[in-house]
Amino acid sequence: MSIPVPHQPLPLGGRHIVLGLSGGIACFKSAELVRELTRAGASVQVVMTEAACQFITPVTMQALSGQPVVLSQWDAREPNNMAHINLSREADAILVAPASADFIAKLAQGRADDLLSLLCLARPHAAADQPCPLLLAPAMNREMWAHPATQRNAVQVVADGATLLGPGSGDQACGEVGDGRMLEAADLRDELIAFFQPKLLAGKRLLITAGPTFEAIDPVRGITNLSSGKMGFAIARAAQEAGAQVTLVAGPVHLATPRGVRRIDVRSALQMHDAVLPLASANDVFVATAAVADWRPAAAPGEKIKKDGSGAVPAIGFTENPDILAAVARLPDRPYCVGFAAESHDLARHAREKRLRKNVPLIVGNLGPATFGRDHNTLLLVDADGERELATADKLSLARELVREIAQRLGRRA
Ligand code: C5P
Repeated sequence: MSIPVPHQPLPLGGRHIVLGLSGGIACFKSAELVRELTRAGASVQVVMTEAACQFITPVTMQALSGQPVVLSQWDAREPNNMAHINLSREADAILVAPASADFIAKLAQGRADDLLSLLCLARPHAAADQPCPLLLAPAMNREMWAHPATQRNAVQVVADGATLLGPGSGDQACGEVGDGRMLEAADLRDELIAFFQPKLLAGKRLLITAGPTFEAIDPVRGITNLSSGKMGFAIARAAQEAGAQVTLVAGPVHLATPRGVRRIDVRSALQMHDAVLPLASANDVFVATAAVADWRPAAAPGEKIKKDGSGAVPAIGFTENPDILAAVARLPDRPYCVGFAAESHDLARHAREKRLRKNVPLIVGNLGPATFGRDHNTLLLVDADGERELATADKLSLARELVREIAQRLGRRA
């Protein structure tokens, strides 16, 4: 069945970002970053320091951003000659990537001897109506990052209202390995998207199961299903973006862990059960998206089952797996439980029945064959008050809507 998918708004649509580059080899990643930000719908105004121009040319950044790069506070093209004011008043955010050790030191001291530091200082940082957030992506050698002076400065700029994105860890341009790498362009794009999401789940802890399970028949064979894990991973990402602390218990899937999410990999339903149960009560919300196998082979021999040439087929007996969602819902101090129902027909009726049978406040119904492995879905929310459909959309947009719905219900309970 093919679902007509409506046009989705771009995640940074309508956002105007000032992208500042200070001097560092990571400037080469900023070219890709402009691409990522504009693809996500943002308009990008690049501002470069003199040192940044040693690493990448303004020509490249102009071509990629489609805007002349601003380089100097003395640029007479600005009618009022106040580039620092104009730029910081127009921006929805200033992102400095790379933010060098020297640039962070400058910010920590409130110095403003070039256009980029000047506009960071001039931004409305505490305005109630239209503050201009400052995000910094540090990039430097690991010794420079670890130096007490840089650490002191990093603490100071955060205390003054800036947000640090990274740094990451790994191979450095100098050949050393350690902390101080600028985050990759796609990661910075995702951090910026997350930054703009409302923090509806701030301070909350969420536990999520996702993906299929794999039930071994012998050491080389097993029974699994077509769940891709995409919906559960999208919910984990949306919850993390909304400020929650997220633990994701994942069956065997080939998906990248959303940034900032703690992931526990499991294979079988029993392993998933054993990973979830000890954690459940410490969470505010449990979302069970995993397609858990209902049965597992009663005995999985340690050696591969062989054909013996007689044409006889092996007799595989089954035993029932524990119902993880129902077990969590039975806990005395249970979290707010959200179950999923993947059905092939009569979605609303099955979802209503499942909600009562598992004794959970909210069941999210979807049509399994229409969504397994796809990037889009349609959800039907069933709770004690009735039903509400979340119209067909990509799984991340739906996950953000579901997070809103969960946050509202937590608010009503409080
Ligand atoms: O019973 P059924 O599999 O249809 O219920 C689906 C819901 O129950 C999903 O939320 C799924 O993650 C959860 N479930 C579970 N443990 C099982 C079976 C299902 O947590 N053994």
